[in-house]
Amino acid sequence: MNIDLFEKYESNVRGYIRSFPTIFDRAEGATIWDVDENPYIDFFGGAGSLNYGHNHPVVNEALIAYIKRNGISNALDKATVAKHDFLVALQDVILKPRGFHYKVQFVGPTGTNGVETALKLARKKMQRSTVISFTNAYHGHTLGALAVTGNEMYHDSYYGVPLNVSKLPYDNYFDHDMDSVDMLRHYLEDGSSGYDTPAAVIVESIQGEGGVNVSSPAWLRKLSQLCAEKDILLIMDEIQVGNGRTGDFFSFERAGIKPDIITLSKSIGTGLPMSIVLMRDDVDVWEPGEHTGTFRGNSHAFIAGAAMLHHYWKDDAFSKEIRRKGKMVEDRFRAIRSRHPEHFSDVRGLGMIWGIESSIKDFCGLVSHEAFERGLLMETAGSEGQVLKFLAPLVIGDEELHKGLDLLDAAADAAVKKEQAGALKETE
Ligand SMILES: Cc1ncc(COP(=O)(O)O)c(C=O)c1O
Repeated sequence: MNIDLFEKYESNVRGYIRSFPTIFDRAEGATIWDVDENPYIDFFGGAGSLNYGHNHPVVNEALIAYIKRNGISNALDKATVAKHDFLVALQDVILKPRGFHYKVQFVGPTGTNGVETALKLARKKMQRSTVISFTNAYHGHTLGALAVTGNEMYHDSYYGVPLNVSKLPYDNYFDHDMDSVDMLRHYLEDGSSGYDTPAAVIVESIQGEGGVNVSSPAWLRKLSQLCAEKDILLIMDEIQVGNGRTGDFFSFERAGIKPDIITLSKSIGTGLPMSIVLMRDDVDVWEPGEHTGTFRGNSHAFIAGAAMLHHYWKDDAFSKEIRRKGKMVEDRFRAIRSRHPEHFSDVRGLGMIWGIESSIKDFCGLVSHEAFERGLLMETAGSEGQVLKFLAPLVIGDEELHKGLDLLDAAADAAVKKEQAGALKETE
């Protein structure tokens, strides 16, 4: 088996294969093995889609039983036992205990489908076309979602997407005390600001791809209050940091807010493709079949997702575990930063999402490379790849976690030595 085959047959758009150039074969929990049986500890976690790890035994058992009894796989949006049980699990285990009343829309199976749907629904409900998003936001790559995504690398003027989107600074985007919610209020209340009242604001409570930027609960609350006051829908994009990543099931719970629309994907199907949009009852203005598609809902993801909701979310034990392990990661990240203050400028995160930032161009890419060489998968985030992002499965065991962090230590030390020896200058 030869990795060159991918270059020969697969589009140039290939991405992660370039950071992790080996052929992966099997995986369990937080470890992946390649075809040569080399193990890699997974701090990448399928970019947030593997919160429950690879091949969770409870998921595998439920899927095998379902497939063995010839449970229906593709049903478009017909009623099925699998969908019934998923809806019940979501309502009973997640929504009702939080006092949340949302209807669920099953959309095409990727996060960007959910974002696309949320934007369209908000525009239809409010009969307004403008949407506000934030600096460094990441919401996906279909054209509507791309329009609310910041990073210029993904944009091209030929796509024609910037229409009807206004960007505002995310919380703490500027070092000085500029609050973008105050700014938005000012715009909305000034009849000559040139700012249309938007249909919606779309926001991540932590920007994962944008570089692990954590908004404060106070900022989120203020944004939510302004939206309510000015009759603007608040869309929380929970695709990367929902599903327990921050310790709570929804990452915005720490702010005590109730968004009008929520997008969820990635780990909701335990890594199998599934995307959903939650909407308040009165926001559900769709006509039957008005927003449709073939792959709405994925029976196997329903089975797997319901199994994990029942398994992990019936009480707060899992949340406590996430916070406990997250603290271990934070301490180790801060130790790396203290050891190499010239190379790392910041550590930030919450729960089990952590980022360590470098102001040296390409340095985090070098650490990621060194980590891969040692058997650790870890990606970079941020507009320039200036942040190393920790996104391991939430179920990772303590021993494996420490082993991965030891590998990261070694990778960081090696990268510092190489940078000091001029390795990055040579690549410039
Ligand atoms: C916050 C957020 N929204 C949307 C998306 C897009 O999801 P997908 O890649 O499944 O289309 C992502 C993907 O990383 C994301 O992090």
